[in-house]
Amino acid sequence: MTLILWAAIGYLLGSIPFGLVITRALGLGDLRQIGSGNIGATNVLRTGNKGAALATLLLDSGKGAIAVLLARWLAGPEAALFAGAAAFLGHLFPVWLGFKGGKGVATFLGTLLALDWRVCLAACAIWLVTAALLRISSLSALVAAAIAPIVALWLDGWPLALTTALMSVLIYIRHHANIARLIAGTEPRIGKKG
Ligand code: G3P
Repeated sequence: MTLILWAAIGYLLGSIPFGLVITRALGLGDLRQIGSGNIGATNVLRTGNKGAALATLLLDSGKGAIAVLLARWLAGPEAALFAGAAAFLGHLFPVWLGFKGGKGVATFLGTLLALDWRVCLAACAIWLVTAALLRISSLSALVAAAIAPIVALWLDGWPLALTTALMSVLIYIRHHANIARLIAGTEPRIGKKG
């Protein structure tokens, strides 16, 4: 019962579409009609407003971290794992947007930060190095998502490794259009409208 409750709380937190809320509040238009149409920080950056993109990144990550920290504080480590995974699912399938949400990268990183900061640090480092070399957000996320479950297994254990692997698989599924553009060589670089 407690686990279901924490999954519900995590889901509701994760389902807040901060990218949409922020861009609307700033009068930047409907994010779903801009660039890739995604509600995440990479697409917010395509509006040209770097502050809005940073705020989206921090809030989309933060909602995952807060779900985990709250659950761990009030109900223990198992509830934290459930709340984190549910926050990630909430970002991907938000009830407020007809279950059509984002790609989950920021929430993935925020959830990992609170579950095991070392795994988050490794994933962020992989993202940053790939982005510095290739300047493609989706590819950086896909590389980080592929390696994160292995790092989680190495540094933490099976429960976190399996949870991370589940989130990584969903990140790949959500990036299917990006993968097609990467193969075609048409995926835009970070900050480009594309
Ligand atoms: O974090 C999302 C990113 O990996 C891809 O975003 O807008 O380029 O599809 P976008």
